[in-house]
Amino acid sequence: NMDSVVQGDRRPGSHKGFVEEMRFVAMRLHTRDQAKEGTLEESALPIQEWQPSQQDYLQFLVDSKHVYDFFENFMNQSQDNMFVNFRRTGLERVSALEEDLDWFRQRGFSIPKPEKPGVAYVEYLQSLVQDKPHALLCHWYNFYFAHTAGGRMIGRLMSKLLFDGHVFEFYKWEGDVKQILDQVRVKIDETARDWPREVKDECLKETGLSFSYSGTILGHLAK
Ligand code: HEM
Repeated sequence: NMDSVVQGDRRPGSHKGFVEEMRFVAMRLHTRDQAKEGTLEESALPIQEWQPSQQDYLQFLVDSKHVYDFFENFMNQSQDNMFVNFRRTGLERVSALEEDLDWFRQRGFSIPKPEKPGVAYVEYLQSLVQDKPHALLCHWYNFYFAHTAGGRMIGRLMSKLLFDGHVFEFYKWEGDVKQILDQVRVKIDETARDWPREVKDECLKETGLSFSYSGTILGHLAK
């Protein structure tokens, strides 16, 4: 829990930079079966046992896209200097997801509206815009980085289970995603370098909520 991490002025990872601090907090919030660095008890339903339908997976994409829409609109429109760094990072997912939704349309699916998990998360993110803009960086980091790690693993499993191994655009980036992530890590560190400790902590403390909201979106698959 955060209280045991955020104590005094030194934070795990802080010697390297802020992204390492965010990563440390995030990794601890994984279950042990999800990631080696995880500290939480094994999940009741490990991902190897998930049995969603194609419709569930489509809903997962729709809810995910709703959140990416928010982030990408926000980054493009924000007048705040700190967010200008996060326009066109190469991690953007909206246009890839649009292509994937077309793929479903072409196969006779109608595209549902976002459901509660996506809608509630975006409402929460919108509330941060005025109240705690710095906290948005933590949500952005977790949402985009999680998708390149666990999200990709989940994508491979789901695609084998439901779509004969079809690789969705959601899991393709232009160029080497590892390189993109490294460039973004540098931007995050630069952006947060001069933040006062309280602002950094406020941002780190969002990690738990980021996991719970993302967890509700993954709930479309974890059944
Ligand atoms: C990294 C698995 C859910 C945030 C990782 C890694 C794995 C993983 C294997 C890589 C660890 C490494 O670098 O060695 C999973 C699985 C999940 C899950 C199986 C769910 C079933 C989440 C959620 C979040 C999240 C819900 C937050 C919204 C992160 C972050 C990283 C990470 C920020 C670090 C990425 C990086 O350093 O590049 N996850 N994860 N994960 N995960 Fe997850």
